[in-house]
Amino acid sequence: MQIPENLEQAVAFIKKAYNHPVQVGLVLGSGLGNFIKEINIEKEISYTDIPHFPASTVQGHSGKLIFGEIAGKKIVAMAGRFHFYEGYPASEVAFPIRVMKLLGVHTLLISNAAGGVNTNFKVGDLMIITDHISFATVNPLIGKNDEAFGPRFPDMSEPYSKELVQKGKQIAKQLNIQVKEGIYFGVTGPTFETRAEYKMINLLGGDAVGMSTVQEVIVAVHAGIKVFGMSVITDIGIREEENIITHEEVLQAAAEAEPKFSAIFKELVKAI
Ligand code: HPA
Repeated sequence: MQIPENLEQAVAFIKKAYNHPVQVGLVLGSGLGNFIKEINIEKEISYTDIPHFPASTVQGHSGKLIFGEIAGKKIVAMAGRFHFYEGYPASEVAFPIRVMKLLGVHTLLISNAAGGVNTNFKVGDLMIITDHISFATVNPLIGKNDEAFGPRFPDMSEPYSKELVQKGKQIAKQLNIQVKEGIYFGVTGPTFETRAEYKMINLLGGDAVGMSTVQEVIVAVHAGIKVFGMSVITDIGIREEENIITHEEVLQAAAEAEPKFSAIFKELVKAI
């Protein structure tokens, strides 16, 4: 089956710079880039150097692929990701996931900063994603199906691997880190939600809301990659207080929760 030329060129460029198959892909969300300290880094490649790779524009996203090892496993981490609200088409948001697939990735660990909508959540909580709702986000698989990756109508009954959810929970318990579980509600942003919208999201079954992840996960699932996802709750949507929500606050809350997040991700890479 024919691999699209832009992907082929991106992958050929990367393989020239780093020629090892990688098993695990990581996407580090806003404020969570510190996880790279856990990686025995072998090679870094700036997004801007890779043919056909979009370039990230958001503060808190440094924009490079990091290749290396964690516990003897070859990994590739995206430090910084592409968001639909930056103006990239959905297919480009998910482009790096297909690159990962072609590099050998079979498991994706994905993370994000998200607003808490479940009223039991507080800032700094970690939420293992058990499912998602894509709410008016553009499906990245729209267009001619790429049979090289997967079927026209992919099943989405288990976008987040149940086995990995179980492993994540076990690891959190062993590390004595409290984790929540819940449904990630994907929106486009870039506005944070109105008070009425946070309430609606809660009514519709969302536990946390964010502006990333769903498009990447759809492309990963289409390509047969197993996914584990975790949100860091950085702000509380349903609230009485008069406070506003800012990007700075989101970054700070994510950075504060990052050590707990990193500990779980690291152990999970080992356990895969
Ligand atoms: N809403 C949407 N996206 C977010 C939020 C939020 O409250 N917090 C962090 N990302």
